[in-house]
Amino acid sequence: MLSAIVLAAGKGSRMKSACSKPLVKIDGKPALAYSLEVFDRHAAIDEIIVVSNRANRGQVFSLLRQRAYKKVKAIVLGGRRRQDSVYNGLDAVDPASKWVLIHDSARPFIGSGFVTRVIRAGKKYGAALLAVRPKATIKVCRGGFVRQTLERGSLCEVQTPQVFRKDILVEAYRKYRRQDVTDDASLLERSGARVKIVEGNYENIKITTLDDLLLAGLIVKGKNV
Ligand code: CTP
Ligand code: MG
Repeated sequence: MLSAIVLAAGKGSRMKSACSKPLVKIDGKPALAYSLEVFDRHAAIDEIIVVSNRANRGQVFSLLRQRAYKKVKAIVLGGRRRQDSVYNGLDAVDPASKWVLIHDSARPFIGSGFVTRVIRAGKKYGAALLAVRPKATIKVCRGGFVRQTLERGSLCEVQTPQVFRKDILVEAYRKYRRQDVTDDASLLERSGARVKIVEGNYENIKITTLDDLLLAGLIVKGKNV
């Protein structure tokens, strides 16, 4: 059994919008609804847990009711950091579940084929994520000056979904909960686990700032033609 945890409990502070980021409309549809549709239809996913916050809980709840997803089993409250939200989501997962998939609702454009591939790799290696090659040159900096240029060939820009064996992830979460991280795989890396990289696509953008919304609108238009 595989459970998907869909995160929608962030504040969206970098977006500077009055609307909660997971509910912001892209071509008339809330961002959160895009990934939920893909997961709800995906044969390898058995249940979905949605993590919301106090401010958007009511709206998330009505979205779920309106769209009547078959697999959404629970809506739970998130925490201060992303990893606290994941932890709360893990608590609501069916005890019979052996696998978990974690996804940021801020990434609406996941393709079903990519979900299949990352699940397959997760099941084979115990942990897997989607990633693309960075297009930019990335440098390490300190105090406003460049310290070092990282070799682009050895870098990858990670995305979600990320898929894990549940027991390994839960253990990593318990062990490293004091450390601040921005994705789930980082916790596993700390315990020395190997995380398999699956090539993703550039369309799977994360909506972070307002300009990402413009791009999101164009991506949807491109899909419809
Ligand atoms: N998230 C969450 N709980 C938190 C923080 C983040 O569920 N305490 C979720 C967000 O809803 C988002 C995903 O994690 O889907 C990725 O986080 P990010 O893009 O940083 O979103 P926000 O934290 O909402 O935005 P910001 O950092 O600009 O405040
Ligand atoms: Mg954040």
